[in-house]
Amino acid sequence: MKVSKRIKGVEYAIRDITLYARSLEEKGRDILYLNIGDPVLYDFKTPNHIKDALIDAVKKDKNYYPASEGISELRNEIVSMESKKGMNLTRDDVIITNGVSEAISMVMASILDEGDEVLVPGPCYPPYSSYTNLFGGRTIEYKCDEDNKWMPDIDDLEKKITDKTVAIVIINPNNPTGAVYNENILKKIADLASSNSIYLIADEIYDRIIFEDNFVSISKVAKDAPLIMLNGFSKVYLMTGLRLGYLCMNDKVSNELKKELPKLARLRISSNMPVQYAALEALRSNDDYIDEMVSKLRLRRDYIIKRISTIKGLKCVNPSGAFYAFPKIDLTIGKWKSDLEFVKELLLETGVLTVNGSGFGREYGSNHFRIVYLPSLTILEEAMNRLEAFMHKRLLMQ
Ligand SMILES: Cc1ncc(COP(=O)(O)O)c(C=O)c1O
Repeated sequence: MKVSKRIKGVEYAIRDITLYARSLEEKGRDILYLNIGDPVLYDFKTPNHIKDALIDAVKKDKNYYPASEGISELRNEIVSMESKKGMNLTRDDVIITNGVSEAISMVMASILDEGDEVLVPGPCYPPYSSYTNLFGGRTIEYKCDEDNKWMPDIDDLEKKITDKTVAIVIINPNNPTGAVYNENILKKIADLASSNSIYLIADEIYDRIIFEDNFVSISKVAKDAPLIMLNGFSKVYLMTGLRLGYLCMNDKVSNELKKELPKLARLRISSNMPVQYAALEALRSNDDYIDEMVSKLRLRRDYIIKRISTIKGLKCVNPSGAFYAFPKIDLTIGKWKSDLEFVKELLLETGVLTVNGSGFGREYGSNHFRIVYLPSLTILEEAMNRLEAFMHKRLLMQ
């Protein structure tokens, strides 16, 4: 029976790797899950006022199909927030989606034809590549330079723009590297998009999870570029399982796309209505919990970075935002053939589940692995002890 070629191009390493862990867990192994970026699984719970707004909406029968583009109040709030960051847009330019994930699929479905190219950061959060492939496009990784705090290499990006390039994707703060881009780099990327008349797709889902410098949105410097901004409520507002995000387009995006893309919103009817009221509450109410979360995460980041720095064979750039670390592995130490083999052996021997770097892009993600540092310090300490012992054993076997 037929299965499409397209579906075979779809990969999602972050969850695909869980299959190995589940089978071990069924055999009684104790697994430390450091693979999924879901704060609500750990000690960062959805704030009560957001949960109450959700329950209240359900009880008030806000359970019907709302407008496909989203409820007006929430879209207005998003216009006001994004305008403050520097974006020129109106309410018609905002579409509420079932998570940023759905926004990525809608954007790629609306801008790509067979053979079109999308420039994605190397390494990159996997759905950008998978959805590009699914809609007939091809991703080209541009280099993010590990020796320069994983900043995009502008020369490399510029060299990779061809007449088939349709869009440049940036993820800031970045998943998987935790890099936070400075204004100068953002301006150069925005200028490349505007001078080549290609879309700039910016994912700022971690915009308030920042440890050192102030966050600069690309909106501030991308006034002349056709900017498609993606953001959502999963990470900063601790609403992962509630599934809500949005996409918005600035005044340089063509009216044609603004007319065509919303058809996809109508096709899937709407996003979850009561959750839209919960999101409205999240944007309007006290958000001190975000600072508390960032303070806790900073301690966890400092702890794992310090531990990794003492483990021979691993090297890690200090992440400045989000909640991921992306260490480089000296594969010769364990004679591992690939980062995937390293991740599988680490799991099998120690029960510590991480994600293979190649799952974030073969060219620049290979020879790395991604650690999520959302768990408590006690769990992180146990995970680091096991990782250290694992590496030490391989060194002795050399
Ligand atoms: C960069 C980035 N974008 C989007 C998402 C998914 O967001 P959502 O939960 O809104 O679908 C993630 C989740 O890990 C992410 O890291």
